[in-house]
Amino acid sequence: MSEPLQKPAVIRVTSLTRTYTMGSESVHALREVDLDVGQNEYVAVMGHSGSGKSTLMNLLGCLDKADAGEYELNGINTTDMNAASLAHVRNQQIGFVFQSFELLPRVSALKNVELPLIYSNVPFWKRRILAKEALERVGLGGRVTHKPNQLSGGEKQRVAVARALVSGPSLLLADEPTGNLDSATSSGIMDLFEQLYREGQTIIMVTHESDIAAHARRIVRMKDGQIYSDLPTEQDPASEHINAPSFPKEPS
Ligand SMILES: Nc1ncnc2c1ncn2[C@@H]1O[C@H](COP(=O)(O)OP(=O)(O)OP(=O)(O)O)[C@@H](O)[C@H]1O
Ligand SMILES: [Mg+2]
Repeated sequence: MSEPLQKPAVIRVTSLTRTYTMGSESVHALREVDLDVGQNEYVAVMGHSGSGKSTLMNLLGCLDKADAGEYELNGINTTDMNAASLAHVRNQQIGFVFQSFELLPRVSALKNVELPLIYSNVPFWKRRILAKEALERVGLGGRVTHKPNQLSGGEKQRVAVARALVSGPSLLLADEPTGNLDSATSSGIMDLFEQLYREGQTIIMVTHESDIAAHARRIVRMKDGQIYSDLPTEQDPASEHINAPSFPKEPS
């Protein structure tokens, strides 16, 4: 039988290793991790606190450099890139969403979303259009002039998702995107991720929660800086949440 057709790889990680050194202590946060992720995959990364999830995400997001191993993003080997080249790759290819939103507090939702476009020298008029479109895409067309302290937690995270998407990145990385949200709001963010996935977005998200991970199509589990399980969601224990009753709905 012939091999099934594989989608083009977005990520190819080989023997990726990251050791933090603090004085005479070494923390082996990532130990020779191998991971391939294809176009339009939706992957959840799970594991106990300290297992290396954020370390891996920071490397995938070109926010940090590995000590050893290789990282290819869309066929481009980033391993020997300097900080400026990595920043360029990050700006063009990667959207990052964090647990704590990381929005600029004093400026509007629109300005927050425009920010990555300023770094890539997109002209003012085009920034406005793209940022508005991104806010509309996440359901926040009516909150353009609001500042972060005038937005709910879920809305803040939507602004962060809009900012992550505004440059049209090939990869959306989310490190515990629902970690600061209640379950009903988390459910809304997961609906948004599902919509983005169906539109073709490649997504990798870290979560501690099985019911959040169950939204992904593939679940990678980490322990002590290594991947010990990598399965389609329906074969992972988190799959018991797939048919669970949905989160309580607001009374109408
Ligand atoms: N900047 C750093 N300097 C030193 N050690 C670090 C640093 N960042 C992480 N570590 C250590 O590396 C290990 C992996 O950390 P990491 O943040 O990747 O874990 P995690 O799986 O994301 O955990 P959590 O679920 O708590 O977010 C931990 O032992 C942590 O203490
Ligand atoms: Mg973490």
